[in-house]
Amino acid sequence: MLQGKSIVLGVSGGIAVYKAIELLRLLTKAGADVHVIMTRNAREFVAPLTFQTLSCNPVHTDLFDLSQEQEIDHISLADRADLFILVPATANLVGKIAQGLADDLLTTTIMATKAPVLIAPAMNSHMYENRIYQRNQKCLDELGYYILEPVSGSLACGWEGQGKLPDPAIIFAAAESVLVPKDLLGCHLLVTAGPTQEEIDPVRYISNYSSGKMGFAIAAAAQQRGAQVTLIAGPTNLTVPVGVHCVPVFSAAEMRSAVFDHLDDIDVVIKAAAVADYRPVDRSVQKMKKTADKLTLELEKNSDILAELGQQKEGRILIGFAAETERLLVHAAEKLQKKNLDLIVANDITREGAGFDGDTNVVKFLHADGRVEELELMRKKEVAQQLLDRVMVLWKTKQP
Ligand code: PMT
Repeated sequence: MLQGKSIVLGVSGGIAVYKAIELLRLLTKAGADVHVIMTRNAREFVAPLTFQTLSCNPVHTDLFDLSQEQEIDHISLADRADLFILVPATANLVGKIAQGLADDLLTTTIMATKAPVLIAPAMNSHMYENRIYQRNQKCLDELGYYILEPVSGSLACGWEGQGKLPDPAIIFAAAESVLVPKDLLGCHLLVTAGPTQEEIDPVRYISNYSSGKMGFAIAAAAQQRGAQVTLIAGPTNLTVPVGVHCVPVFSAAEMRSAVFDHLDDIDVVIKAAAVADYRPVDRSVQKMKKTADKLTLELEKNSDILAELGQQKEGRILIGFAAETERLLVHAAEKLQKKNLDLIVANDITREGAGFDGDTNVVKFLHADGRVEELELMRKKEVAQQLLDRVMVLWKTKQP
């Protein structure tokens, strides 16, 4: 996504400057060409050499530095940029941009650019709540600047509250999101992800190896492409993608309720979750004791959520997943037809790099019209993009 993109990283003076260094590392790793502009106050916290070394580009600091202006002037920097990211953005920087002040290299370059500008403010929580600051931020929001709200937590100044810069990985994802074409704008998408857990007693459950990575990748990519995303997630260790509404669940029954509770206005359902087919008939209230040599658990069937959705489709696009160990195409085609789906993603989990937990997958897309597409081994993030390309076509054909 950011490969070959020209990014101006504007750094102003706050204690969170150290996170801008980590963000720079992520950006360059993704193949972006990053040009850093530091304000005078930012240089009080970190020396430009750190940014220069990591970006492999000279760091820009002064508006009237002739040597720097010879190398690259602020107008050409503004013109060449695909994206500006301001990290951390102080109250002062936000205020200056909102008032149209351009009295240093960073603010002048921001004023001169036509590139999108992503602003990640960080400051003391009382400063953040200050109505003048809020007015300035709102003004920039309304003018089309992208604001990544600070998070709550303990702040460097000793206060607890909102004002903390989000983790660099989150700022990175927001940067990607700004540059992605919004071809799913207006689409309401529901994604399920992860395993379900079916309780046996207070310490044991039946589950599977799903990590949630496939479903979370789809949710993140769809959100970046402009969709409004609800993610119903079984237990995972993953961070909810920015901008995605996540409903955590444990059991298949909870997943079913959550899916049906959030179905209003949904255009597309993508069921990447590995839902338990069975649950124990009885859940023991107390921890079960080891007594007999053999133990038989009686199981009963869970509702098949996707099959139910297929019976009451009401114009929705339904996408299923099938993880198989044998006869991949036969089993996947059966599920596609039985559950009344538009497309099913078949993964042969016996293949190297496919299926549960890893970062990659090897999948085939089986369409309702009989087409089968075979994809190479690729990262789950890329599988998500490929799948969403198909979803977008299906969704667009249903638009009036
Ligand atoms: O989470 P990861 O570690 O990244 O792994 C990804 C994955 C392998 C879990 C994912 O890619 C995948 O294949 N998910 C589907 C797993 C599966 O085998 O599902 P199934 O064949 O049991 O069900 C077929 C479809 O019906 C699935 O879309 C499933 O969500 C849905 N289903 C199944 C049972 C049930 N009770 N309700 C359902 O909705």
